[in-house]
Amino acid sequence: MTADQLRDKYLRFFESKGHAVISGASLIPENDPTVLFTTAGMHPLVPYLLGEPHPAGRRLTDVQKCVRTGDIEAVGDASHLTFFEMLGNWSLGDYFKREAIEWSYEFLTSKDCLGFDPSRISVTVFAGDDGVPRDEESIAIWRGLGIPPERIHALPREDNWWGPAGQTGPCGPDTEMFIDTLKPACGTDCRPGCHCGKYLEIWNDVFMQYNKTADGRYEPLRQVNVDTGMGVERTISMLQERPSVFETELFAPLMAAIDSLAGPPVAAEVACRARRIVADHLRTATFILGDPRGGVKPGNLGANYVLRRLIRRAVRYAKLLGIGSGFARVLAEVVIDNYRHVYPELEEKRAFILAELVAEEERFEKTLSAGQREFDKVAAALRQHGQTQLSGRTAFKLYDTYGFPLEMTEELAAEQGLAVDRAGYEAAFSKHQELSRQNDATFKGGLADHGEATTRLHTATHLLQKALQIVLGDHVQQKGSNITPERLRFDFTHGEKMTPGQLAEVERIVNEQIQRNLPVTMETMTIEEARAGGAMALFTAKYGEQVKVYSAGDFSKEVCGGPHAASTGELGRFRIQKEESSSAGVRRIKAVLESRALGTPSC
Ligand code: ALA
Repeated sequence: MTADQLRDKYLRFFESKGHAVISGASLIPENDPTVLFTTAGMHPLVPYLLGEPHPAGRRLTDVQKCVRTGDIEAVGDASHLTFFEMLGNWSLGDYFKREAIEWSYEFLTSKDCLGFDPSRISVTVFAGDDGVPRDEESIAIWRGLGIPPERIHALPREDNWWGPAGQTGPCGPDTEMFIDTLKPACGTDCRPGCHCGKYLEIWNDVFMQYNKTADGRYEPLRQVNVDTGMGVERTISMLQERPSVFETELFAPLMAAIDSLAGPPVAAEVACRARRIVADHLRTATFILGDPRGGVKPGNLGANYVLRRLIRRAVRYAKLLGIGSGFARVLAEVVIDNYRHVYPELEEKRAFILAELVAEEERFEKTLSAGQREFDKVAAALRQHGQTQLSGRTAFKLYDTYGFPLEMTEELAAEQGLAVDRAGYEAAFSKHQELSRQNDATFKGGLADHGEATTRLHTATHLLQKALQIVLGDHVQQKGSNITPERLRFDFTHGEKMTPGQLAEVERIVNEQIQRNLPVTMETMTIEEARAGGAMALFTAKYGEQVKVYSAGDFSKEVCGGPHAASTGELGRFRIQKEESSSAGVRRIKAVLESRALGTPSC
């Protein structure tokens, strides 16, 4: 089955179940300042999910273009993408769990539809927690359809809840459907929701069943809704039994074009990831530039910044593959040709898309060639002195000033018979993070981004540090911080892995402070006064030096350069994505803020 057939089958199937086929919306949200891009099919439908009547009725279905960059670092594996198409069906106060699940199952398994072998399907449901019971109804429906108990997994809120936790509004449990890719399990605990690649989530049915009240209670909604999302790229990769989404017809011409532009072969593991990143990022950039609503161009703020970052990241990874200048335009032409029959706006905007890509690639090329000159100079000096290793500091400078990813520096160095001091690079990187945190959330690669997203994450970092001290103890001290528009990363002293309970408690405390909507205020004082007043102060300031102290209500107080959100209520929902070791005695947390309207991205 092709993607064209899948879209058509989906819409026809739900049409046969009484749904009106509506058009997908623009990728650039029309009336919603809380997100930069449309991230799910439900997004343009929020007013109707809240009760406003939809002109097409109470049962809707569509195909929606989506951009999600929260998982940009995962791109390069078999299934993560920054742009994808979502098939959706909605009940606006009409049918509920039984119909939604039964139709999902029928569409997945019926020979007239997708015809998946039922034994490869497993599902997850909400396990229940404070005030909201386990989703027994969904479990019973899945059991009734013949899914055995060992393939029905009840998982906590972070996996199986969609909605604005920490905020008020409609939300509810979801049930997610996974296809067993038949890869070996990564261990005895491997189950749907594990990220090793054995189970691929392709569809999510959300049951918007509750309204979260200001005092944190979940009260049943008067209008209960169904919101579902099936990923086109992932689903056809499974239908076509491909090892990744990049082997389907949605990517094949693009991968072929990348391969034909690439230089001499490079190490397989570098090449595999790099070609996928180039393909993904340029496809996304093409769709953003080609959006009918328009208005997004490479730049330093908000959606413009996301676009710039995608293009520049593609340029860097293209270099790793030995692809020469001017490639972005060539690849965008391939994307346009491959998609114009579905998205005619790409054809209409072809000239604009290509011109913007050419201009941005040229702008970045200028910095890159200055970096290349710097690299050549250092390499020549090293050779002259008979040295074989490029210092971590130089590798970091190439990254920080010229936007060279470490892998690219390593490739260049290897060509000259040089190694790169990776540990030294990491150390320089962490040191820089500490220093730059004083100034603000400066994005690496020479781009300063003072956008709202990074400002909110910066405030969240303060709440996180305090919450960690409450949960783990006063030994917790900041060792590094790095903020991109998508996520925060925070390194801190602590001797052992945090338990799931500790992580949940830290998340809960941060979200509690967000919900309290504490004002964030700033005062200037001397460093001594700041310390005496109990402010956390990491950096050695000179005696008597004036510093800024930022307070989040009565909860946290920290010496810091700002900028910060005006109040914690602006932050949305705080979610920890990962806790891992950074170096001996130092742990690292990556966390995101989810917009309150959208809840948890889950595929
Ligand atoms: N809104 C739900 C999701 O994106 C269906 O997963």
